[in-house]
Amino acid sequence: MRPHLPEGPPIGYGQCWEDADVLLRALDVRPGQTCLSIASAGDNTLAMLSRSPDRVIAIDRNPSQLACLELRVAAYRALSHSEVLELIGSVPSARRRTLYRRCRERLKPEALAFWDARPGAIDRGIGNAGRFEGYLASFRGRVLPLVHSRDRVAQLFDTRSRGERTGFHDRVWNSWRWRILFRLFFSRLVMSRLGRDPRCFAHVDGGVAGRLLRRARHGVTELDPRKNPYLQWILTGRHTGALPYALRPEHFEAIRGGLDRLECHCQSLEDFLESYGGPPIDRYNLSDIFEYLSQDEYHRLLKRLVAAGRQGSRLVYWNLFVARTRPEGMAARLRPLTELASNLHRIDKCFFYGRLVIEEVA
Ligand SMILES: C[S@@+](CC[C@H](N)C(=O)[O-])C[C@H]1O[C@@H](n2cnc3c(N)ncnc32)[C@H](O)[C@@H]1O
Repeated sequence: MRPHLPEGPPIGYGQCWEDADVLLRALDVRPGQTCLSIASAGDNTLAMLSRSPDRVIAIDRNPSQLACLELRVAAYRALSHSEVLELIGSVPSARRRTLYRRCRERLKPEALAFWDARPGAIDRGIGNAGRFEGYLASFRGRVLPLVHSRDRVAQLFDTRSRGERTGFHDRVWNSWRWRILFRLFFSRLVMSRLGRDPRCFAHVDGGVAGRLLRRARHGVTELDPRKNPYLQWILTGRHTGALPYALRPEHFEAIRGGLDRLECHCQSLEDFLESYGGPPIDRYNLSDIFEYLSQDEYHRLLKRLVAAGRQGSRLVYWNLFVARTRPEGMAARLRPLTELASNLHRIDKCFFYGRLVIEEVA
């Protein structure tokens, strides 16, 4: 391991908190296409590779996020499927450093120095490495035990019909303690101190905890917790029966086979588009980056994305707390796929988003 401890911005997200199944159905990636994806920790960018596009361009302005993606790429190359699950933290493991050592030679110097300097993050599982996962771990370790016993948390994952889930939520789960402590812990104040960069809230109006509490009800009643890897990680710290798309065994080889078609750029999307001279971009995975921008900045960026695309190009993005959909002035250029988006939003396993947006270049 290198003695040099590279400075760098902290990892925001050790895994993608956007449902890859929803993303892939929304994007409808076809063989031969050119895709652009906000990297975050990389899982959803890798998921896109499984659909055989010509090229996936991963972009993130935070170099630490690209180090997360790069280590995943090395892991898909160097490890077996079950070993990747161990390294990520989906399943328990006492040998993550040994697995990491097998990935090291495939890392470029910056990512190598980055991960060599973070053996603790490797030990905990790289899916836990972000500030956001640290925040969730505090919720799980310090707040949840004040509300529900371990047994009751386990009961949430019992087999139930939708009606039975609603009954369990309303009679057992949704206690006054749950509501009060949830509202406190997922308040804007606590979240911006512990979980998300305060700049994420620059354009948010009003409180957020009440909205999240309503979405949480949807997440444990309308959706089945047994099939939800994201909820499983939030409440138990690992995957206990379901896996996100990129980690399912049936997608492993397709992702591994597509890794040569991935390229990574550490810059803002705005800067990347400024100098982009490649083929038109067919598919955009834009995470929820627009709510970090002012309305004017969002509109300017939307125009650039359309200009870099072609007829039929698709943009997929989420609204967490800020409403962002294409302005009326762009109606002739961007057509919203409203029905598909609301159908997918209903089954979105990352249940906390307010809206999914799918727009097609006309
Ligand atoms: C937008 S965040 C969203 C994470 C999660 N959905 C949430 O809201 O907490 C995902 C990634 O986008 C990156 N990002 C945000 N704005 C960007 C921009 N304009 N250009 C490139 N990357 C950006 C961040 O660095 C981060 O790694």
